[in-house]
Amino acid sequence: MGKTIKTISLILISAFFLVGVADDADAKKRKKKIPKKPSYVGAVKCNGSCHDPYYQAWVNSPHGKTFGLLKPGERADAKKKDKLDPEKDYTADPQCLRCHTTGYRQRGGFKPTGSKNKKGKDVSTKIDPEEPNKEQVGCEMCHSVAGGAQFRVVMKNTKGDFKKSDVEKYGKRWDYENVCTRCHGHPKNPHGKGKVDFAKAKVHPIDKYFNEDNADQDIVKDGKVKDRAKTKAISEGKDLRIEDWDFKKGKLKFAKGTRPYSSKKKKFYYKK
Ligand code: HEC
Ligand code: HEC
Ligand code: HEC
Repeated sequence: MGKTIKTISLILISAFFLVGVADDADAKKRKKKIPKKPSYVGAVKCNGSCHDPYYQAWVNSPHGKTFGLLKPGERADAKKKDKLDPEKDYTADPQCLRCHTTGYRQRGGFKPTGSKNKKGKDVSTKIDPEEPNKEQVGCEMCHSVAGGAQFRVVMKNTKGDFKKSDVEKYGKRWDYENVCTRCHGHPKNPHGKGKVDFAKAKVHPIDKYFNEDNADQDIVKDGKVKDRAKTKAISEGKDLRIEDWDFKKGKLKFAKGTRPYSSKKKKFYYKK
């Protein structure tokens, strides 16, 4: 009898340890490590299990189609009016890419056809016409200072239950109205239309894009957006700086003192 009890306790104790270790391993698997530096990951990475309705809405919005405008023959009349050449291919032109693609000249950002690394290897961004990504004005152009690689992990690890400040420290920006001026009404904008009406614009009208497969991603209905709205981000009170740039030998270089974030110093810069 005593022996049976001993055996049973031994089994129970081993089971307890095994489960314990497995649980730890699972927890490690679930909680991903935050990358050391911010970089652009592309809109496709925000899609899938997390933001499918936002992605679908974006694909069908003007911002999901900005790269096509740089192709010859597209919006010929508008180009003529803006003194641009309607027959020219602008898809690799640095004068256009900062405002028509995602993260151009920043870590992980869009690289046009013909881009090569130091060893001469082709590093240009692959474009899948079925799946708009970094070649358009993606999520990260409005939602980040230097790409979403880091705060995306925080969002995943917390299953979307985070405060604004938890992601802001990794470069998620909340100064939405200000961020539009990265392009609309920017001094380098050649179209002369001025600022966009932020109050009227609905950048990703998600309501139409819910279906059976993504119904569980309704962060408005499940209250996460509302809970988060009660928290406060620094960039809501103080707008982040907006980049300006110059062209040196045809390449875009950010003008000194205009970047909103330095990854070297891990520091954010706000407008004065
Ligand atoms: C500073 C940002 C910026 C730069 C640089 C820029 N664009 Fe744009 N582009 C925009 C914005 C923003 C719009 C939407 C219209 C607006 O409000 O200015 C736009 C709209 C357009 C349109 C549609 C215009 C219409 O009226 O239908 C075309 C075509 C276009 N851009 C081509 C280009 C080309 C080609 C270049 C490079 C020579 C370029 N853009 C450079 C920001 C920019
Ligand atoms: C042109 C700028 C712009 C682009 C591009 C953009 N967004 Fe947004 N996003 C906004 C603005 C502005 C808001 C706040 C108003 C609203 O909800 O419409 C917002 C809100 C959100 C929210 C709610 C956040 C919260 O907690 O309140 C999510 C989630 C989101 N966007 C995801 C995305 C995803 C995913 C993409 C890309 C597929 C994307 N956005 C592309 C501007 C943008
Ligand atoms: C990285 C550059 C960029 C940023 C940032 C950006 N946009 Fe745009 N936006 C564009 C471009 C390029 C177009 C042109 C699309 C077209 O004409 O088909 C555009 C088009 C639009 C349009 C439709 C055309 C128009 O001129 O009325 C609206 C509305 C708009 N943007 C609103 C916003 C708002 C609101 C924000 C900020 C929350 C924002 N955009 C941020 C680049 C940008």
